[in-house]
Amino acid sequence: AIQPDPTLELAIRTIVDYPKPGISFRDITTLLGDARAFRRAVDQLVQPYAGLKIDKVAGIEARGFILGGAVAHQISSGFVPIRKKGKLPHETVRIAYSLEYGIDEMEMHKDAIEPGEKVVVVDDLIATGGTAEAAIKLLQSIGAEVVAACFIIDLPDLQGAKKIEALGVPVHALMEFE
Ligand code: PRP
Ligand code: HPA
Repeated sequence: AIQPDPTLELAIRTIVDYPKPGISFRDITTLLGDARAFRRAVDQLVQPYAGLKIDKVAGIEARGFILGGAVAHQISSGFVPIRKKGKLPHETVRIAYSLEYGIDEMEMHKDAIEPGEKVVVVDDLIATGGTAEAAIKLLQSIGAEVVAACFIIDLPDLQGAKKIEALGVPVHALMEFE
């Protein structure tokens, strides 16, 4: 269960009708730009992993890189980027996933994780969960033990967290919006 933190919720900006009419876009750039809110968010993101030995944080392009880098630094783990296809220079594993319109592919370096390493997935927001699900499957395909996925924001109406928990991966989010 989420302990609501008004300080953090107020640091998120909502843009109505972006990127298209009817969508209220939850914009984390205001949180990132606020030094106290950024620190508070990262402190809360790492809380479930205190005392656990996490080998790697996997951040999902693009906003998951910003938060994942900060989380990895704070828990003294390595950082692994999961990228849109065509961006990584070495041998990769790749997976297709559904977006609201059409499909895309994400990839990571094959040798980014040693079999059995404990990995936490980080992104800014979970909506349908399609992005996080693909990231988890990619990590598991190279032998990672995905111990959790964490987000600043969950949009529970879209049931993404349920989709991830059905894979046996616990989900942590700092706040929810309708
Ligand atoms: C957003 C967000 C998550 C994903 C969540 O990224 O940062 O990665 O969508 O949606 P889902 O749970 O329905 O899969 P986006 O695809 O806009 O990519 P970007 O960060 O590169 O802009
Ligand atoms: N904000 C940011 N990313 C998103 C959102 C949102 O409201 N919905 C789906 N991806």
